[in-house]
Amino acid sequence: MEYRELYNGVKIPMLGYGVFQIPDHEEAKKSVATALKNGYRLIDTAQAYLNETAVGEAIKESGIPREEIFITTKVWVQDYSYEKTIKAVELSLERLGVEYIDLMLLHQPIGDYINAWKALEKLYKEGKLRAIGMANCYPHVIADLCMTFEIKPMINQVELHPFFQQQLNLDTMKEYGVVPEAWGPFNEGKRNLFTDPILTAIGKKYNKTAAQVALRWNIQRGVIVIPKSVREERMQQNIDVFDFELSQEDMDQIKTMDIGHSEIVNHFDPEFVKMLHNHKF
Ligand SMILES: NC(=O)c1ccc[n+]([C@@H]2O[C@H](COP(=O)([O-])OP(=O)(O)OC[C@H]3O[C@@H](n4cnc5c(N)ncnc54)[C@H](OP(=O)(O)O)[C@@H]3O)[C@@H](O)[C@H]2O)c1
Repeated sequence: MEYRELYNGVKIPMLGYGVFQIPDHEEAKKSVATALKNGYRLIDTAQAYLNETAVGEAIKESGIPREEIFITTKVWVQDYSYEKTIKAVELSLERLGVEYIDLMLLHQPIGDYINAWKALEKLYKEGKLRAIGMANCYPHVIADLCMTFEIKPMINQVELHPFFQQQLNLDTMKEYGVVPEAWGPFNEGKRNLFTDPILTAIGKKYNKTAAQVALRWNIQRGVIVIPKSVREERMQQNIDVFDFELSQEDMDQIKTMDIGHSEIVNHFDPEFVKMLHNHKF
């Protein structure tokens, strides 16, 4: 496993396991247990995924020392205010059954995220959170927050894959020392990423799949990836990306795949913003 260092010195694995869309307790628990068995040491969950308890149980039952596992979770918009966020983090600690969380993110930069962030800053100073970050911030937003907050976000978790490369966002994060983390590193399978001719042809040279090329490409850009799969053979495939290196020519070719926008979410659509505000669990 390769690691990146956050600006506060905390080390984070370059590749982790995401558990979005696995709300069933037993399936989530089994998936995390299988991921840990196959060498994953970063688990990415969220309060909104409704599987923190399953993640916590799988970690405890794995027998792997707590300090060897990097746990990320996220506070949802309904819990944004100073008091509500403090309470929401305490509930995450309880559900996960841990004394501290490695990385706590604010899931969306909407609503009262300024006061929610102040709560994260307090809990970070107390040691309950080893690192704090944002998700879904476009370049102007992450720049603004870095200029506003007392403690800058250490991570910005955004959609990043060959079809939506967000170079300006990466450049902005670099300027402020924020580490990028990719959600949806496979574009959730859209645009036939798994059989894409460019990724497949590059993969053939290294005996790797299109999925592995997509992950390796982000890792070589310094982006942490958190692919999700409930299938063990895919989990094994997805973590097997540290024994080859894409050439500059490969990287340049993948650059041509960028369509410049998301096809999964549209943060610029007022109806989508309304939906995020109304989503309660
Ligand atoms: N911060 C945010 O707002 C946000 C938003 C979305 C996601 N996330 C995080 O990012 C993680 C990953 O994103 P995601 O789950 O949305 O999408 P993703 O990782 O891009 O794609 C997951 C899909 O790809 C399939 N898959 C995985 N590996 C494969 C392989 N090697 N070959 C073929 N198919 C494969 C999975 O199917 P199977 O499971 O059936 O294998 C699943 O349908 C999430 O789990 C979550 O932790 C965060």
